[in-house]
Amino acid sequence: MLQLSIIIPTYCEAENLTVLIPRVNQALTAASLDAEIIVVDDDSPDETIQVCQTLAEKFPLRLITRKDERGLSTAVIAGLEAATGEILLVMDADLSHPPENIPELVSALNQPQADFVIGSRYVEGGSTDQSWGWFRKWNSRVATWLSRPFTSARDPLAGFFAIKRQTYRKARQILNPVGYKIGLELIVKCRCRNVVEIPIDFADRVSGTSKLSFKEQLRYLKHLKRLFDFKFQNYAYFIQFALIGLTGVFVNLQMLSLLSNWISSPVAVALAIWSSMSTNFLLNRNITFSYAKHAPIFKQYLTYCGSCLTGAIFNWLTTMTLSQSFQFFEKRILLAAFIGILVGMGFNFLLCRYLVFSKHKSADEPTATDKELKHTE
Ligand code: GDD
Ligand code: MN
Repeated sequence: MLQLSIIIPTYCEAENLTVLIPRVNQALTAASLDAEIIVVDDDSPDETIQVCQTLAEKFPLRLITRKDERGLSTAVIAGLEAATGEILLVMDADLSHPPENIPELVSALNQPQADFVIGSRYVEGGSTDQSWGWFRKWNSRVATWLSRPFTSARDPLAGFFAIKRQTYRKARQILNPVGYKIGLELIVKCRCRNVVEIPIDFADRVSGTSKLSFKEQLRYLKHLKRLFDFKFQNYAYFIQFALIGLTGVFVNLQMLSLLSNWISSPVAVALAIWSSMSTNFLLNRNITFSYAKHAPIFKQYLTYCGSCLTGAIFNWLTTMTLSQSFQFFEKRILLAAFIGILVGMGFNFLLCRYLVFSKHKSADEPTATDKELKHTE
């Protein structure tokens, strides 16, 4: 089997490819690596395709053109699927990742205990471009810091990494990234424990433009949420459910203070409860249990109201039982009420998770592409 497959996602990188591919090839030859280069292009309107065709005459390069899909992560997955090498290495086309580091990444991954190798900017000896301003530095640092719950790697967002084919294949059915951070997705989903980082000097692109927009950065947050749900499951859902519950308290109090100027207080209280219940419902449907947001909303809303009522009844029963049956709680009614709230919330959460938003089509299910690929195997 081929030793190595190098996957390069591209969108309008004609100029950079003419420099990159010979440099990659030189690094491969110097290290006597038997490799293929797979360029995954999303039908770039510049000369990327023609350039690849010309380069393929001279170098071991294969071009995959995707006509109806766009996106860095899915392009990388398409490349990983097409690859035939024992080791799969991913890098950018814009010369940010020095190809001269490829052999080092490969030999680090050849150590038996290594699952994943990163060409890292943030370990000793690594660097980013001198021209980075404070905003870019902080932006990158914050994004990296947000990945901390998932990995202790210093630079899991680098985009320059290698993984063993057998490790990748364990998780290929459950990959479901959005946006740019396919490396982090692989570390989490392939359950890579031993991540090795090789220092690199990350250079800024000279030709062409970056495709990392603000929208992509928002997608990263969405991706983090998916990984959070995947890794922490019910704990993750519960934390989101509780935080949304907290926002409901504010909605309720705000509505009450607004409405009590206009209408009698029993009606105002009822309306305030109804509004916070509704905002909680919408937020839970779109965020916490977003896997179920395509199910019919009306039925969900009715069962949600039922579940809130059940939670409220359990809350009441707990508070009353504690305060009337235990001397300790007689003088501590607020503590009893607090425990009642927790019990009620627990019931409400379980009903929401398994009844109201029960259709569990979560991020760990195969993507459409994975299913298609499976059929073609
Ligand atoms: N096929 C395909 N489709 N390739 C794409 C797409 C796309 O929609 N968008 C970007 N690419 C390719 C680019 O052509 C380039 O080779 C690589 O993906 C990285 O894209 P850039 O536009 O250069 O993005 P960047 O420099 O902001 O992001 C890079 O640096 C980050 C760290 O600072 C990427 O390597 C990220 O993965 C990395 O996190
Ligand atoms: Mn770049």
